[in-house]
Amino acid sequence: MNGRTSPARLAIDGGAPVRARLLPYATPDVGEAEIAAVVAVLQSGWLTTGPKVAELEAAFAARTGAREAVAVSSGTAALHGIMHVLGIGPGDEVIVPAISFAATANCVAMVGAKPIFADVDEHTLLVTADTIAARKTPRTRAIVGVDFAGQPCDYTALRALAAAWRVPLVADSCHALGATYRDAAIGSLADLTAFSLHAVKHVAAGEGGMVTTDNPQWADRLRRFRNHGIDADHRARAAEGSWFYQLVELGYNYRLTDLQSALALVQLARLDESLARRRAIVARYDAALAEMKFVRPLTHLPFGQSAHHLYVIRLNPECWTVDRRQVFQALRAEGIGVNVHYVPIHLHPYYRETWGTAPGDCPVAERVYEEILSLPLFPAMSDADVADTLAALEKVWRAYVRPARPAVAVCRQAG
Ligand SMILES: Cc1ncc(COP(=O)(O)O)c(C=O)c1O
Repeated sequence: MNGRTSPARLAIDGGAPVRARLLPYATPDVGEAEIAAVVAVLQSGWLTTGPKVAELEAAFAARTGAREAVAVSSGTAALHGIMHVLGIGPGDEVIVPAISFAATANCVAMVGAKPIFADVDEHTLLVTADTIAARKTPRTRAIVGVDFAGQPCDYTALRALAAAWRVPLVADSCHALGATYRDAAIGSLADLTAFSLHAVKHVAAGEGGMVTTDNPQWADRLRRFRNHGIDADHRARAAEGSWFYQLVELGYNYRLTDLQSALALVQLARLDESLARRRAIVARYDAALAEMKFVRPLTHLPFGQSAHHLYVIRLNPECWTVDRRQVFQALRAEGIGVNVHYVPIHLHPYYRETWGTAPGDCPVAERVYEEILSLPLFPAMSDADVADTLAALEKVWRAYVRPARPAVAVCRQAG
């Protein structure tokens, strides 16, 4: 194609779609081994927290290199538990990225503290030491980094900042299980790290979460927090009688079940295989998109190995006559399940109304948000699925190519 051929009629305008059935942006990869593991738990009689939870915790600690791993019912519960054990509360501020899933900031509000939004780097959508430092106040009590899309933050820089400020560094690594930073596994780089076992994550348990840490006191407190605040001190039980327990603080029911843990254990054992497939898909996208200047993938940083949870592109506004919303709708009509990760958190009505955030607080996040789209990326995706996504992207761009300039030459280097 050279840009002078007339573009194919878009599905949104009544043309034939690239795909008859929608390709989802992500979907879990569950096979016979997962089904057998769950059935075995059903037959074992342990439906809630039992031996599989402990097995999963041990496997997570081994995989991440952390001393302790504590399983909870979701990534959100993991983050909430982290804020709780850090003793964050009313009057405190915690710096979080403007671009993430809302739970990254919600956990701060859940303990009555104020989330402070740091802007992101426009090429990676990661927070940096500079964007975080710009938001420090005397009330800053913790820093939360998010390994957005699976790519690790610059932990050397974030750790140096946290150490200088004498505050804990929390990693929201819900996108990044299996990622590495300078050869260290994600899960061992921050004081506390949160993972999600949600259905579209690397290890899918339906719902679930995990906290990793090297601090056994925090781990004990998290175990109490996930179980209503009940102290599991067996000596006290033995002294008083087997019925005896004590509620020593207010906690929640954030327990993971054995059913979920059994599923997660099989998925964890397959993690390297699924990461390899994600990398192969990303390599295909990268190679094709390097020629398509009308979109810009996020930059891969040299110091880490991403877990490639999301493949996020930015639309190059110079090359399109329409905005992201129209491109999104046109791609959906073509049968490609694109998505947007994420609406900047500080723009949500809850944050604006409750915490006084406003447009303009994080200008880079707000500008880039208008340009981003996530392309389908999941291990069970075939090469043909990748080709369909790329074909649909090119088809939609050719229908919406900006004509005023030599756009084809600028926006597509070759072809
Ligand atoms: C960056 C991030 N943090 C936290 C969460 C919350 O995890 P969960 O859905 O398991 O509660 C998610 C989930 O999508 C996430 O993407």
